[in-house]
Amino acid sequence: MLTLSQVTKRYPTGDRALTDIDLTLPRGQVMALIGPSGAGKSTLIRCVNRLVEPTSGSIRLEDTELTRLSGAALRRARRSMAMIFQEYALVDRLTVMENVLSGRLGYVGFWRSFTRRYPQEDIAEAFRLLDRVGLPHAMDKRADALSGGQRQRVGIARALIQSPRLLLVDEPTASLDPKTSRQIMRLIRELCGERNLAAIINIHDVALAQQFADRIVGLRAGQIVFDGKPGELDADTLTTIYGEEEWDTRVQDDIGESTPPREVPASRLTLASGGAS
Ligand SMILES: Nc1ncnc2c1ncn2[C@@H]1O[C@H](COP(=O)(O)OP(=O)(O)OP(=O)(O)O)[C@@H](O)[C@H]1O
Ligand SMILES: [Mg+2]
Repeated sequence: MLTLSQVTKRYPTGDRALTDIDLTLPRGQVMALIGPSGAGKSTLIRCVNRLVEPTSGSIRLEDTELTRLSGAALRRARRSMAMIFQEYALVDRLTVMENVLSGRLGYVGFWRSFTRRYPQEDIAEAFRLLDRVGLPHAMDKRADALSGGQRQRVGIARALIQSPRLLLVDEPTASLDPKTSRQIMRLIRELCGERNLAAIINIHDVALAQQFADRIVGLRAGQIVFDGKPGELDADTLTTIYGEEEWDTRVQDDIGESTPPREVPASRLTLASGGAS
């Protein structure tokens, strides 16, 4: 459903963030994008929704060439690609319900969005989604009264109320503790399954990527250096992606809940990122 061909991004500063990226994401596939800091993960997902303009190459979402869109056509295309952020990007002084409903702003007309009057069916859907993400009683709370995990649940509900076909997720768990991180990744995974959504999830935690993604793509210095199933990621591959490091982590075949894979501490990944940023 999403196809990137020969996508290159050079920032005005001269930084070459992506080089000749070829990538196809089928409908319903949950892909984790891993790689050291500066590898180009955020740039890649931002090129897809055009928060960043690719320098060259083609990005197609189903039949639409995204790189050529502007104005109303771009806004329409963006509705089908919802973003979930590390820092949640909620409006603190608004309630949970208002934050979720703001995901509909791409659909309601200007006047309705200005007065924040949403159609009844949007409000009903917001209730359903809050229930689904595990916040049935929080709708009246201000966003700044929530924990990090709760805030991310609101961010997920806001993304889903957009009725997207594709989720673009940038480090959804980077600000969360390990248990909450797993819960959030499981929720995203389940929702993709329920709604047949494709997702690109940028994530630093390799073990979480392995546990919850269908496919892992490794970026290094703006190029794809690994593309395979979670089980195919071994210590050599991790060295290719992250650089020389004594990987004492053993990638397990059994990634069931009862024996969670050993997590690779973020500090190690940062240490290993040396040459690539
Ligand atoms: N707005 C910008 N202007 C100039 N260079 C940028 C900009 N944003 C990113 N870069 C550069 O592009 C490269 C890729 O950055 P990007 O943020 O995509 O990496 P990342 O893989 O998401 O890293 P992290 O894991 O730290 O989030 C880096 O060299 C970075 O310095
Ligand atoms: Mg990033």
